[in-house]
Amino acid sequence: MSARVRASAIRERKGARFATVTAYDAAFGRLAEAAGIDVLLVGDSLGNVVLGYESTMSVTLEDLERHTGAVARGTTRAHVIADLPFMSYEPSDADAVRAAGRLARAGAHSVKLEGGAARGPRIAAIVAADIPVVGHIGVQPQTAALGGGFKRRDDRERLLADARAIVAAGAFALVLEMVAPEIAAEITAAIEIPTIGIGSGPHCDAQIIVIYDLLGLSANAPPFVRPYAQLGDAVTAALREYAGDIGAGTYPTRV
Ligand code: KIV
Repeated sequence: MSARVRASAIRERKGARFATVTAYDAAFGRLAEAAGIDVLLVGDSLGNVVLGYESTMSVTLEDLERHTGAVARGTTRAHVIADLPFMSYEPSDADAVRAAGRLARAGAHSVKLEGGAARGPRIAAIVAADIPVVGHIGVQPQTAALGGGFKRRDDRERLLADARAIVAAGAFALVLEMVAPEIAAEITAAIEIPTIGIGSGPHCDAQIIVIYDLLGLSANAPPFVRPYAQLGDAVTAALREYAGDIGAGTYPTRV
């Protein structure tokens, strides 16, 4: 039997506060797991922070397969959630199941997709294929540039209806991105699966942060992020010292 944390175990954490973080490669997967974080998201934020794209729209299923496999290989116990990228699940239930299957084969233990009540059938189809699903409402970066935008969401009725529809479709957790904190609290109290907040205040069951933002590796982290380290500065300082040593002939000193 797999030693991995299962979706059903995460669902049972409802009401417990827990940390999750993104990971994009084996090294950061291993480090996050060593820190006791056992739920990792291979987010399509990969496109912004690793691949240098303007938006997550450019991220492909092949990108997610490669990076999901890396995180899975770098970990032994963590539950690896993989994002379904833009246009891999929207066209039809069959497309959604096929894309989710490719991510599962690459190493994902569940998949996440963006959208509200209209995504219910996609979620139900993937769950019927035995692949657990995480929903994602509030700001939806994949389509933000097409009109949705990045402004904090405060349409209470709509958000509550979306959350309930996603639960009814069979999701085991729900990401709330940039939802007004009082509405995030209300959704968290109203649904029986854990909410995972990002920029949505302190009342969600869990929190998620893009790991590059959390570690001070991003050029422009969102204002709600508390950087827990300044690794960007540390990396630049180490590389400057290394380059200086080469120039001065003080490295290497041993053969
Ligand atoms: O891609 C991502 O990193 C995400 C999180 C912001 C939830 O979807």
